Amino acid sequence: MSSSSTQDELPLRIFASSVILLVYSFICREASDAGMLFRILVVGGISVVSYFTVSFFISSVIPLFLKAGLFGRDINKKGTPNGEEKVPEPLGLVPATVYIMILCVLHLVAFHNGDARLYTAAMACVTFMTLLGFADDVLDLRWRYKLVLPLIASLPLLVNYTGKTTVILPRIIRPFVGWIASHFGGGLVGSVSGRLVDLGLGYYIYMAMLSVFCTNAINIYAGINGLEVGQSVVMAIFVTIHNALNLRSDIPKDDIHLLRVHHAFSLDMMLPFIAVCLGLMYHNWYPSRVFVGDTFCYFAGMTFAMGSILGHYSTTLLLFFVPQIINFVYSLPQLFGILPCPRHRLPKYNVKTARLEGVKTHLNLVNLVLLITGPLHERTLCFLLLVLQAVCCSLALVLRALYLRYFP
Ligand code: UD1
Ligand code: MG
Repeated sequence: MSSSSTQDELPLRIFASSVILLVYSFICREASDAGMLFRILVVGGISVVSYFTVSFFISSVIPLFLKAGLFGRDINKKGTPNGEEKVPEPLGLVPATVYIMILCVLHLVAFHNGDARLYTAAMACVTFMTLLGFADDVLDLRWRYKLVLPLIASLPLLVNYTGKTTVILPRIIRPFVGWIASHFGGGLVGSVSGRLVDLGLGYYIYMAMLSVFCTNAINIYAGINGLEVGQSVVMAIFVTIHNALNLRSDIPKDDIHLLRVHHAFSLDMMLPFIAVCLGLMYHNWYPSRVFVGDTFCYFAGMTFAMGSILGHYSTTLLLFFVPQIINFVYSLPQLFGILPCPRHRLPKYNVKTARLEGVKTHLNLVNLVLLITGPLHERTLCFLLLVLQAVCCSLALVLRALYLRYFP
């Protein structure tokens, strides 16, 4: 990256650092007791170290990736000298490796406080997913196989899971699920009692589907510099805010102790995750010096899925995935082959204006936003999409709070 583009980024870097510091201070404030605060400070310290470790190691391994022939071309710069350069890929391998090491360290000091077996299983899923993501990047698998990979990677959790199979469902759909349970139950949906719905075997299908959705949703909302890792950082920040809000001891709930354990556990997973993602983002932000690869998309999606399953907030997690859900639903005609789906559904780069233009036949959110706003610079487009993500996540948090207040 040239020194002038680094200078251009300075206000953005200051803004991003301020947001991170603000959120971290908020989490510390919500800690509510000294033990929890100590834990958040230790995990925060480990996270800072992991940020520098990731950004340093990425710089070091770039030549190795190029030598091994692991690189891609920046399609959104086609027709310019930058478009001819070899961009090393998949550098998502570095944050994933550092992250798995951190999970091991946290396991060693037994910060998770919960079921050690489930924690190990979740770690195995993230590791397995990273391996399969790397295999996908190297082998360039077909779309239908990509869909199945997260299903395979979620097996360690599925075979070890002996925890609850209940979910708290919104009031509106409880009668509907109750009706299914009484008519077609048969182990798929157990029972409905009050807020809790026992999904029985259905819970295992739900966990597998969540892994498939989270991983692929990030992978198909991609293709412009900084978007894959940027969306993961924004969502993870909102997950930590949600976790912090549930750490407070003054919440009027019977299961307050368990709730705090679950959300503290998720914070342990999310704080280092944000840090390793930022270490990667340092290199992947426009103009990308490295590409994250499917390795990163799968690793990030699986981390969200595991954090939310073990932290018991998977329905709330889906609220943070609203742009990804819109992108997925809008993509369906092409994903299911009703309309032709080209290998890449990226916008069109106009060499004369140096702007990206929306392509009507590429049905995804990136192109839809461009068709609404008109041509944009790649960096501006990524920033706009991340702002959209933050707005959707904020709305999700507010709507959830309002809903719980009026329909407890
Ligand atoms: C998914 C999308 C595809 C999109 C691709 C971009 C679907 C069904 N698939 O495919 O439409 O084009 O992601 O990641 O929606 N690249 C860039 N600039 C970037 C990031 C990636 O040009 O900022 C290009 C590079 O050539 C890179 C390649 O995309 O090598 C990576 O594509 P890959 O992740 O393998 O594509 P898929 O995940 O299969
Ligand atoms: Mg991809």
